[in-house]
Amino acid sequence: MPPLQLSIIVPTFREVENLPVLIPRLDAATSQAGIACEILVIDDNSRDGTEELCQQLSQQHPVKLLVRTEERGLSSAVLTGMQIARGDILIVMDADLSHPPEEVPELYAALQSDEHDFVIGSRYVKGGGTADDWGWFRWLNSKVATLLAWPLTSVSDPMAGFFGVKRQAYLDHVSTFDPIGYKIGLELLVKCGCRKPVEVPIFFADRLHGESKLSFKEQLNYLRHLHRLYEFRYRELLYFTKFAAVGASGMLVDLASFLGALTLFPPALARGVAIWVAMTWNFGGNRMLTFRHARHDDFWTQYVHYCLSCLLGAAVNWGASVGIWYAWPGSQSMPWFPALTGVIAGTGFNYVLCRKWVFGRKPTNTDDSQSESPPRSRSRMLNAA
Ligand code: GDD
Ligand code: MN
Repeated sequence: MPPLQLSIIVPTFREVENLPVLIPRLDAATSQAGIACEILVIDDNSRDGTEELCQQLSQQHPVKLLVRTEERGLSSAVLTGMQIARGDILIVMDADLSHPPEEVPELYAALQSDEHDFVIGSRYVKGGGTADDWGWFRWLNSKVATLLAWPLTSVSDPMAGFFGVKRQAYLDHVSTFDPIGYKIGLELLVKCGCRKPVEVPIFFADRLHGESKLSFKEQLNYLRHLHRLYEFRYRELLYFTKFAAVGASGMLVDLASFLGALTLFPPALARGVAIWVAMTWNFGGNRMLTFRHARHDDFWTQYVHYCLSCLLGAAVNWGASVGIWYAWPGSQSMPWFPALTGVIAGTGFNYVLCRKWVFGRKPTNTDDSQSESPPRSRSRMLNAA
């Protein structure tokens, strides 16, 4: 088979009315630009006549259809498409003509340079825009979603469903993908480590026919997806933040338990009980939240290790504080300083022990059970060349 320059991947669910407009326009635009391309329609068993239609369209246009019968979802459909694509460059777009087919050559051209691996058809750069009757709700929704992704990428439209990537960049990172929800562009953008993503302005029109397929559930999934991406990019920082938050909650638990225990026990014992309760609380928090990936490992082994780690952390805390106190007499006039240094040293030490020893299991990206991983599923390919 001759090498192809471009694969255009179009995920569809019930888009039979839009495809007869989209495919000829895509074909015309790419032919005119002299780009050898294939159009891959990845349909999730719409049963709306998409199969017959694609059969027909394939007589005149370079279109192929893959029907997935056991898997669902926009992101995984796109990954399925990428897996079977043959082009050197992969461009993804919606089927509903929100994305202008005539801009495809522009996106393709942007990836001809060595400098860029990723291109976005962007609504938010100069010259881009959205249809006027994008209601305020959809607008706000898009803005908030974009803002939440800001620490992950600096592009202005990371929510775009119109984007392109070099196939090699995709192949190099294929084992890392596990998106949930529908922001597959953001997934690739973060995980492919693409150099200098470039944005081409586009006008985002209202869908031509039919209704949007994206439910509220998908929006919630976006939050879970974000969490995974933060974990991918900022793993240590995310763990430490959670560890510190659990520790802070433990202080409150300590205090409350102490006050409670005082009603039953003498102070020395009450203090011991409170420390033990707080330590157990923190253990639970770290096992279920901070180091979630290790939550199925043996409970008691972890618990004993955790208590030991706290003890060692306390020793480091004590040693650092007392050490500073005597080694630098000036610190005695500001006792908070040796104490604070001790707390920081002890917490840091404790964190490292927790991360590497107590909850030492290696984190994986597919920890949560419900990932939409690409195709194990049954599918059928129509009109393959
Ligand atoms: N195969 C498959 N499976 N395709 C799907 C599925 C699915 O479960 N859900 C949606 N699609 C297809 C649609 O048929 C359409 O071609 C494309 O994915 C986008 O879906 P829409 O229903 O048009 O969603 P939207 O317009 O609300 O959201 C789009 O807009 C965002 C920007 O605001 C999505 O395209 C996003 O990718 C885009 O970033
Ligand atoms: Mn749409």
